[in-house]
Amino acid sequence: MLRAALVAASLLVIPAAALAQNAEVIKERKANFKAMADAAKPTGAMLKGEADFDLAAVKNAIKVFQEKAALQGKLFPDDSKEGEKTEALPAIWENKADFEDRFVKLAAAAKAAETSITDADTFEAEWPEVMGNCGGCHKKYRKPKD
Ligand code: HEC
Repeated sequence: MLRAALVAASLLVIPAAALAQNAEVIKERKANFKAMADAAKPTGAMLKGEADFDLAAVKNAIKVFQEKAALQGKLFPDDSKEGEKTEALPAIWENKADFEDRFVKLAAAAKAAETSITDADTFEAEWPEVMGNCGGCHKKYRKPKD
């Protein structure tokens, strides 16, 4: 009786695990985007003149963008088009090369900013371009907010 129950339980585990796998990848990419947005937050306030220029915060955003962008391209496997309230658009899988290239470009822009941004003036001149990589991709590949 106990044995039968165990077998039944183990059979149930299989589909649940398969589902969880795709959920995990969606959660992981969302968490990486969230980390990028959190790192970008103080820089947004600086651009708006709501906070003083802080080079350390810019450097941190640059570091997080590079680290997370390097991971994101691989976190959009074919079985992750749906689930977990994903905002990923089907266009991603129709233009995979362009999509992945945008993460490479974001990382490259962040890397370039590492040396080009040294003070408030260079920050104001260069940072919007780095951040433009986020919005440019969202426009094409992320569901618009209602
Ligand atoms: C190459 C394309 C691309 C780039 C570059 C990109 N994003 Fe995204 N972003 C997406 C997609 C696609 C989603 C939707 C992911 C999902 O819901 O599965 C997303 C979702 C998000 C989310 C929502 C995460 C959540 O919890 O649902 C935030 C916040 C975000 N991005 C911030 C950023 C920031 C900040 C940058 C730039 C530093 C950036 N993204 C760069 C494509 C991109």
